[in-house]
Amino acid sequence: MFSARTGWNLAANRLSSLRAAKRRGGARVLDLTETNPTRVGIAYPPDLLAPLADPGSLRYEPAPRGLEPARRTVAEDCRRRGAAADPARIILASSTSEAYAWLFKLLCDPGDAVLVPRPSYPLFDYLARLESVDTSPYPLSYDGEWHLSLEAVARAITPRTRALVLVSPNNPTGSYVKRVEAEQLLALCAERGLAVVSDEVFADYAFAPDPRRAPSLAGDGPALAFSLGGLSKSCGLPQLKLAWIAVGGPESLRRAALERLEVVADTYLSVSTPVQRAAPALLARRSELQGPIARRVSANLDALRRRLQGGSSASVLQVEGGWSAVLQVPATESEEDRVIRLLEEHDVLVHPGYFFDFAGEAYLVLSLLPPPAEFAQAVDRILGVL
Ligand SMILES: Cc1ncc(COP(=O)(O)O)c(C=O)c1O
Repeated sequence: MFSARTGWNLAANRLSSLRAAKRRGGARVLDLTETNPTRVGIAYPPDLLAPLADPGSLRYEPAPRGLEPARRTVAEDCRRRGAAADPARIILASSTSEAYAWLFKLLCDPGDAVLVPRPSYPLFDYLARLESVDTSPYPLSYDGEWHLSLEAVARAITPRTRALVLVSPNNPTGSYVKRVEAEQLLALCAERGLAVVSDEVFADYAFAPDPRRAPSLAGDGPALAFSLGGLSKSCGLPQLKLAWIAVGGPESLRRAALERLEVVADTYLSVSTPVQRAAPALLARRSELQGPIARRVSANLDALRRRLQGGSSASVLQVEGGWSAVLQVPATESEEDRVIRLLEEHDVLVHPGYFFDFAGEAYLVLSLLPPPAEFAQAVDRILGVL
């Protein structure tokens, strides 16, 4: 009856079963897997959503690429990060996840493959599989900071590879793609006929400046490149469902990609009119909205580092940006057993490294978004059991 690509194993795993049992039992779990900024006690301006009530939204004028004023605002925002500020190069989508789906439709036939970083965001397997596309991992390596190796990417390319996915900063490692890496990768992709999909949703959340960081990849480089962003992270508003694709690269490829993407977008017309009309006002408040989130994640990261200074068998991996920290812990028990025990005995929920496909054990991934008192208490309990 059902397609093979939806043939997931939907049985609850040990962690989700235990979590559900804890919830039923009324336990107060300290949840360091929480990455939803609207659920961690961050105050949003009460008048923020007023532009969604603009009576102009009572009229529906379908625009497959997105309404011009919204695309102009997004293009300006992309310019700030080094992409070409041309609204004609922007396509709006309802989420970055949807943008991935559209790009995989644009670039891949069933059975083709996209290269994805490892470790990284676990949704790629789902997003690709739903388009009947395979993912092939290329490793990020760590030696005090994270690196991306051109050779490793080149080795992962097969005749079915159509695109290279970059995440900068990456979730959960927080590592940015550097200028040198970006130049080499764009040249490699141009030479091998691959497109680049550059997920820049966390780009504004750097803990410190670093001149080595690559600007947005949707510039005028040699390869067809798509840069992804959205209100979900850039304004901390995942519920508004507005994201974008900025297209860069050689003009002929860019033009063809945009024409085809327009048909994909026209097939769904998924972005609501109110959010498109509100986009200029919302993005104008970007700094005001990012500030509390950036301060929250910085404060929690500082607290974690301070707590580890006291001496611990755990260490926090170097992190440049984003909303997570990776804690390396002794591999004296499996990640799975450790996270189960933390939840079962200490009411602390964290993600195991394997969830993000770390090459080895043992890592715990901590969201830096929770309220500081909760975060500190959870960290104390985690370090207490090591
Ligand atoms: C790296 C990365 N890209 C994209 C997304 C999804 O964003 P959206 O809410 O726009 O689908 C996430 C969500 O956590 C993410 O971590």
